[in-house]
Amino acid sequence: MSKDFKRYLITSALPYANGPVHIGHLAGVYIPSDIYTRYLRLRGRDVISVCGSDEHGVPITIKAKKEGITPQQVVDRYHAIIKDSFEKLGISFDIYSRTSSPVHAETASAFFRKLYDEGKFVEQTTEQFYDEEAKSFLADRYIVGTCPKCGAEGAYGDQCEVCGSTLSPDELVNPRSTLSGATPVKRETKHWYLPLDKYEQMLREWILEGHKEWKSNVYGQCKSWLDGGLMPRAVSRDLDWGIPVPVEGAEGKVLYVWFDAPIGYISATKELTPDWEKYWKSEDTKLVHFIGKDNIVFHCIVFPSMLKAHGEYILPENVPSNEFLNLEGNKISTSKNWAVWLHEYLVDFPGKEDVLRYALCATAPETKDNDFTWKDYQARNNNELVAVLGNFVNRALVLTKKYYDGEVPACGELTDYDRDTIAELSSIKASLESNIENYRFREALKDAMNFARIGNKYLADSEPWKLVKTDAERVKTILNIALQITANIAVAIEPFMPFSAAKILNMLACEKFGWERLGAMDLLAAGHHIGEPSLLFEKIEDDVIQKQLDRLEEIAKQNKAAEVKAEPQKAECSFDDFQKMDIRVSTILEAEKLPKTKKLLKLTIDTGIDKRTIVSGIAEHFSPEELVGKQVLVLVNLAPRDFKGITSQGMILMAEDATGALRLLQPNEKTNNGAMVG
Ligand code: MF3
Ligand code: ZN
Repeated sequence: MSKDFKRYLITSALPYANGPVHIGHLAGVYIPSDIYTRYLRLRGRDVISVCGSDEHGVPITIKAKKEGITPQQVVDRYHAIIKDSFEKLGISFDIYSRTSSPVHAETASAFFRKLYDEGKFVEQTTEQFYDEEAKSFLADRYIVGTCPKCGAEGAYGDQCEVCGSTLSPDELVNPRSTLSGATPVKRETKHWYLPLDKYEQMLREWILEGHKEWKSNVYGQCKSWLDGGLMPRAVSRDLDWGIPVPVEGAEGKVLYVWFDAPIGYISATKELTPDWEKYWKSEDTKLVHFIGKDNIVFHCIVFPSMLKAHGEYILPENVPSNEFLNLEGNKISTSKNWAVWLHEYLVDFPGKEDVLRYALCATAPETKDNDFTWKDYQARNNNELVAVLGNFVNRALVLTKKYYDGEVPACGELTDYDRDTIAELSSIKASLESNIENYRFREALKDAMNFARIGNKYLADSEPWKLVKTDAERVKTILNIALQITANIAVAIEPFMPFSAAKILNMLACEKFGWERLGAMDLLAAGHHIGEPSLLFEKIEDDVIQKQLDRLEEIAKQNKAAEVKAEPQKAECSFDDFQKMDIRVSTILEAEKLPKTKKLLKLTIDTGIDKRTIVSGIAEHFSPEELVGKQVLVLVNLAPRDFKGITSQGMILMAEDATGALRLLQPNEKTNNGAMVG
């Protein structure tokens, strides 16, 4: 039952302007939405794609406080970085706006005011956490505590990032203010609530009955929210960063960020075109929200309830949401810097925008969480883009240059093999379309690449480089077909790899084709002159990948060190207890590994008192060679102990650092052996 829509309105989740965009955002939201939008444009549909920065909310004020700058400075910085990096990656929004824009403030205020005037909100005074030191209510992320669901420390007032549970501040165990660290008190405050329970029936019918075709992760989350029963949700907060609540007696209160942000889609459309209403207010428009899985409840339950309450707007036709992308086996984390940042990638890999688009689409977490690894990125570039796509296009063009001086040869009579090849191409077209229209972009990408695979096989099977000596006429037909396939590739890959598509068209010296021409074998006329062939993709070498892996390893190390808490202090010891220990500067004279053991080294040391043997369990940390000659500190009056039949007389003092590495303790300058420590 697919309805024919007159136009399309595509939205992509507004990224928070409290940090740059990383590969998880791209694979989850922005690359899929761009593929979909570009495809619709190529089909000549009336489509607009809107996005912008989400510039309100507590994550932004926290970031500002941490860096000692204003929230406005934070959003100005990241809005610029995000906008610029999206553009450079070829994410083709028709507008990339921001929620600090005046049009947005006005649109969101008017939206709230209409609902307020029509009595759609419930006004309620409740007790909420308040920080007496900071003189501030503690909304959302201003409060942390122990997660009631999984026991993790540092869960936020709105969510636990460890187990993913949605929380409210009241549920936190041992709540603390993140402003001052103080234990908060309760204080009365008034807020406006959207009674979601009133929209439950509408949502049930609309989603559970009407949209069984939604992706199962999305449908499943909606069902579990609806089955759990909906409750009124506050749409205002006691904060000083945000859009002021536009009613009397609401000083110090702003719209909740999740109330204003989705209205940002409407504001952005308004900024884009005076015709914005036809996109938002007509049942002929197909509205599609591209989001990540943490946004499902807001886009499928809360925002639709707001839109219904308002009454003039359409609801989304689909909300394709992806799961999460991990990086090298670990969860991507902005605060831990465990990410590949788009703006950094663009600097490190100039000209390789399409490689990232390709690798991320191919590993997009469409149905389950997925893992991005640099090795996989390299393999996809080298084995797929270079070896299949680049190779085919290059062969077709170079042979045409060589045999016909760049002039497209005429197509002669077709063989059965030619006809089979052409039929195969047109069957892919149907699959490619259906995959994109049903948000299966990984499969769609495989289809697009199949044009190149088939082309490669066609050339390998028909071997024009051999035939050219015996059957020159046949070679003309083969290369004509190879060139038509090349032109087809420029159409098929455009939604996925727009830069490469443009490069192919440039090499073919022709204009962009519409989608309807895909599958046709007359895209290039005989006699047309192609341009200069150049390589579409280049091999990525191991050292380039290793550099990225080294960077991540360094970050992992830092994170691990930052996580470590010092052991609690031991029980008190008296001065006499301490005096009993005889610690001396000593020099290691010899060191050897004890046979048949993994950890033990046998050391001969000069304590200044005597030369003696110490057995130490440090073979996994130090090689014998690096120890010989080193001065160390030795507890010399430790009771002797036997290891593997050897008596150890003393203990070398060492510190174990956060990563588990051992460090020798040494006098800061060379000292005589036997010098006492105390
Ligand atoms: N800023 C939110 C996030 O990154 C997404 C906001 S989507 C919108 O999770 F609909 F609210 F705009
Ligand atoms: Zn938890």
